[in-house]
Amino acid sequence: MKLRSIELALPDPAAAAAFMTEVWGMAPSEVRGDTHYLRGSGPFPYLVAFEKSDEEFVRSTTFVCSAGDLAALKERVGQAGWPCCPAASEDPGAGEGILVELPEGVILRFLAGSTEVAPIEGRDLPVRLTHVVFNAADAEACGHAVEDVLGFKVSDRTKGMVFVRCNDSHHSTAFARAGFTSLNHIAFEMEDIDAVMRGIGRLRDHAHAPAWGPGRHGPGANVYAYFIAPYGPVIEFSTAVEKVPEDYKAGAPEDWTWPPNRIDQWGISDKDFDGLRVAEERFRFRRQWAPAPLED
Ligand SMILES: [Fe+2]
Repeated sequence: MKLRSIELALPDPAAAAAFMTEVWGMAPSEVRGDTHYLRGSGPFPYLVAFEKSDEEFVRSTTFVCSAGDLAALKERVGQAGWPCCPAASEDPGAGEGILVELPEGVILRFLAGSTEVAPIEGRDLPVRLTHVVFNAADAEACGHAVEDVLGFKVSDRTKGMVFVRCNDSHHSTAFARAGFTSLNHIAFEMEDIDAVMRGIGRLRDHAHAPAWGPGRHGPGANVYAYFIAPYGPVIEFSTAVEKVPEDYKAGAPEDWTWPPNRIDQWGISDKDFDGLRVAEERFRFRRQWAPAPLED
């Protein structure tokens, strides 16, 4: 199971795509109608889709998996009674699968048989998405739900987050203990720490200062730099997230504490809590499909 892409709806997809290609460092993939698809250097046909809508919302966050994984998912989602429907992707890469609405309304799409593309060179391109994090009213319950129904695993719990993995990467998603449901942030995997630092420089060239970072997190130990995108959400340059073994023992909040005045391993950056909070509330989830039975 791999996190592949996020599909966002917003009023000006062309402007969002221009920022992501000209400043953030992505490559254009395709434009279909009003929808702009952007890729990284890796084999996924796109990582981010921007489609036109008067309102801002997340259409879906997409994972790709094997036919066997998909069959198992269908069975468990059906048994859980979560809203879901069969879904043939009309985005680049195609593929068949399901759309699923989690208990708080987060919409995930799981696709099997979607195609990949040849990797491209570019040391400032993101390689792939490394995680998409959601705000939750009850993050603990969301963690249990995705373990029980989707077969994901909670890697660590902190005072603020429940980190969740779907392969050997420490987390591909997480639920923030926010008290409301929305998109928290989208993290792009960069080639190495230098690529993260050059990214920060590139953003500074365009008068965008980090909202938090650079730094290195506790759980997952990844390097980060968070920015508030001009089109709304929080986006992150990230690299070097830990790989964990199958039997990784999930840490509890008391295992992840910081000394006074510290919220990461390096302690070199301030965090714009208020600005981040506003950006984290902008993109909610909208189900644009009617639940339907899943065929076998
Ligand atoms: Fe992150």
